[in-house]
Amino acid sequence: MLNTKWTGSLQCRLAVILTVAGLISLTIMFVWTSPQTFCQPEQLSFKPDSGRHHVEKNNSLDEAGVEKPILLLGVWPENYRFELNDCKTIYNIDGCHLTDDRSLYNNTDAVLLFHKAISLSTLPPSPRPPFQKWIWMNVESPTNTRKLPGIENVFNLTLSYREDSDIPVRLRLTSNKIPDENFEIPKKEKLICWVVSNNADSTGVGTRNTYYKELSKYVKIHVYGKAYGSFLDYNNYFPTIASCKFYLSFENSIHKDYITEKLNGPLAVSTVPVVLGPPRKNYERFVPGDSFIHVNDFPDAKSLAEYLQRLDVDDEAYRRYFNWRRHFSARPHLILKNQEFVLAICTACDHVGRHKEYKEAHDIYEWFFN
Ligand SMILES: *[C@@H]1O[C@H](CO)[C@@H](O)[C@H](O)[C@H]1NC(C)=O
Ligand SMILES: *[C@@H]1O[C@H](CO)[C@@H](O)[C@H](O)[C@H]1NC(C)=O
Ligand SMILES: *[C@@H]1O[C@H](CO)[C@@H](O)[C@H](O)[C@H]1NC(C)=O
Repeated sequence: MLNTKWTGSLQCRLAVILTVAGLISLTIMFVWTSPQTFCQPEQLSFKPDSGRHHVEKNNSLDEAGVEKPILLLGVWPENYRFELNDCKTIYNIDGCHLTDDRSLYNNTDAVLLFHKAISLSTLPPSPRPPFQKWIWMNVESPTNTRKLPGIENVFNLTLSYREDSDIPVRLRLTSNKIPDENFEIPKKEKLICWVVSNNADSTGVGTRNTYYKELSKYVKIHVYGKAYGSFLDYNNYFPTIASCKFYLSFENSIHKDYITEKLNGPLAVSTVPVVLGPPRKNYERFVPGDSFIHVNDFPDAKSLAEYLQRLDVDDEAYRRYFNWRRHFSARPHLILKNQEFVLAICTACDHVGRHKEYKEAHDIYEWFFN
């Protein structure tokens, strides 16, 4: 099902790219029609008063009968669709009325615009309703973000992994009021594992590849994922990580706060992350210092390998990496392809439900790239 959809969408994109190439002499103009609309005519409708409008509005009343702010998805990021009520069922977030129905535009409190799609799709019409906020949504690091001229000053809110975004997105550890005394380390079968799907040099992975190659000279690493030809089915993703004592949480590029689900995954299934990314201090902003091993704690890969091998035979020392589990919990992130943006979109929904303040986001590139 998903595959068919994805292929269809690729074909659609190709068709769109060809069309766009034919029109290349036009200067960049933003109109409120996206490539998706060419392929999905039902989305074209931008009529002021469609019947769906009333249904949606009706559904947007909360239990107290108060109308919730409407959050409109400009496009589905990467065309990964999910159920609009997933925010409630997965994260218990119910603060907004999430919709992809553009006929609600004039009544929309916030529009979520996915950075990667803004060049191809387009910005909504101006003037926008005075109460409406536009949200710049970008989950990539600066290394993997293209600058698109002309959009630096049109947004009200930024959404990204950065803690100083208006809407920072990440799964966080939560504290247990009652210490968890029953925690047990899952059975371990391997020493070090790594799941890696992206190996394209252009995405900044040079540093982690170099470190991996060096480390693998001294200790065996079990590698899974597309990049290494051994695809890991999503059903096996967490069980595989859980079966390893250590997991290489190597970020694709190194930026402040760019600490992704690569850290969350092992923590959630009780495997010790070996991190490569921003400095240790940055990690300690999010997780306890004794819950992970940082490659920078060691002068070189050889000493790290030796340390991991020592921990392999010293159960007591290994166990200390789980002391945090008594007082904090980690939850597994969503791993299906079409769920990649659920957390970000739901976090936006939560924000929109709580904030009505005036806000402008100026010079987003100066902020994001510095
Ligand atoms: C939104 O309002 C503008 C004018 O303010 C109008 O031209 C347009 O048709 C309206 N669109 C919808 C979907 O109601
Ligand atoms: C709108 O909601 C009311 C009560 O909340 C309900 O009685 C009515 O049937 C709903 N209308 C539609 C079109 O869903
Ligand atoms: C959103 O930002 C735009 C331009 O940055 C500004 O004109 C508009 O008044 C802002 N709206 C709100 C509701 O903050």
